[in-house]
Amino acid sequence: MSELETLCDIVIFGGHGDLAFRKLMPALCYLYSDGYLNVNSRVITVSREKMSQEDHLALVKSKLLEFLPEGHFNEEKFERFQKQLHLSVVDFTDLTSYQNLQTLLSEYPDRERVNYLSTSPNFFGSICRALDHWELNTPESRVVLEKPIGRDLKSSRVINEEVLKYFQESQIYRIDHYLGKDTVQNIMALRFSNRFFMPLWDSNNIDHIQITVAESVGVEGRWGYYDEYGALRDMIQNHLMQLLCLVAMEPPCSLEADSVRDEKVKVLRSLRSMSYADIEQKTVRAQYDKGSSDGEPAPGYLEGEGVENSTTETYAAIRVDIDNWRWNGVPFYIRSGKRMRQRNSEIIIHYKTVPHSIFANKGACISENKLIISLQPKESIRLQLMNKIPGLSKEMRLQPVELELNSPLNSERKPEAYERLLLDVIRSNPTLFMRLDEVEAAWQWADKIIEGWSQNITPMKSYNAGSDGPSAAIQLIARDGRSWHDE
Ligand code: BG6
Repeated sequence: MSELETLCDIVIFGGHGDLAFRKLMPALCYLYSDGYLNVNSRVITVSREKMSQEDHLALVKSKLLEFLPEGHFNEEKFERFQKQLHLSVVDFTDLTSYQNLQTLLSEYPDRERVNYLSTSPNFFGSICRALDHWELNTPESRVVLEKPIGRDLKSSRVINEEVLKYFQESQIYRIDHYLGKDTVQNIMALRFSNRFFMPLWDSNNIDHIQITVAESVGVEGRWGYYDEYGALRDMIQNHLMQLLCLVAMEPPCSLEADSVRDEKVKVLRSLRSMSYADIEQKTVRAQYDKGSSDGEPAPGYLEGEGVENSTTETYAAIRVDIDNWRWNGVPFYIRSGKRMRQRNSEIIIHYKTVPHSIFANKGACISENKLIISLQPKESIRLQLMNKIPGLSKEMRLQPVELELNSPLNSERKPEAYERLLLDVIRSNPTLFMRLDEVEAAWQWADKIIEGWSQNITPMKSYNAGSDGPSAAIQLIARDGRSWHDE
């Protein structure tokens, strides 16, 4: 158990919500068990639901049992951890109701504080205003904002401006949990610690890049939220754009937060803005219809929700062009969808073919090299190369083989994204969080597509639940003479 880590109070607004129970509490529990949470740090759940401290602890325990992987709940450690868990009942929009939170926090007035806003962004402003009113936004406080921050550039500015009235930009941690994933951080390690990739990471060598984040689940009880956002706002504008930035950015001059973020912003500002004609040609949106999932019949997006119509996309595929020296002429094909055949997130760096072949069939049998970075469900990095088929045949015959770059070093559990990110906030390291200009640049690009789609420039397609998505996405990439890497 650690007394070396920063001592702080972690205040989770919306602490009885889905994200808090599914991700934040399990992450804090792991951090505590593994000695990364100072034993005297408190975790204060702020919730609108009135309940006793005993009922709160019983609820947290039951949720940990539900959401931690089997065998990971440790009764003895929880006995100790629960002494640090507190509940404060607050109505987010009623200033006076924050008094009991003020009383709790002022037991340690000089302590560092992490305010995690795991609520709808509609409450971000009123919570920050209340923290200011009760003088709880001390210089040692940080505020963590969960996505989505707005539905477009305009609404995200309103939310950010409201928070910035009470907190400095340096105190604001805008979370994108994809940046906390170990394999995602490994993209930087791979690119910037290996000489091997350096000269091969540009338009002279790379034909195109694919980024796929496919989920087999549907909207899982989050229909109310999801229908307001859809795949473009829920996944593409943030998670996929962050992956694209890490692949496309120039080497930062250090790992300092602003060096990394400066490079990412440059990529976002180089994204080619789309005209209506581009939107029609280079984007696909679709909604899932009924089909199957894990061998069971699965309902369509609209079925069972009591609604007849919705134009929210559950799938989006886009050809993205980056207008800078490194990526001139190298398209990035990105796609994300729910209720797909399988859960699969990967980045494929698709190299150009060799300039001239000396092998049989004039090289028709040579496949291009690919670097395949898989994020989910299994994390791996594979390099697809050509190799000779052993034997005495008259003509040399070749076959593609795969070199697996990261064989698991040990069987230790890999930390979850939220563990990494919570620990970084506790340690005041903002590198893996989004700066205001990053969020705005990503919205600026996405807004054009949002506008085109609202004008129905790209007609809505459908796909069956449990399939590989709409055929229009196959046509999107086929028009350029390429195909998706689907295994
Ligand atoms: C969230 C989205 O940010 O990311 C969800 O709101 C999505 O709709 C989730 O399911 C995917 O995260 P992961 O880590 O399971 O790929």
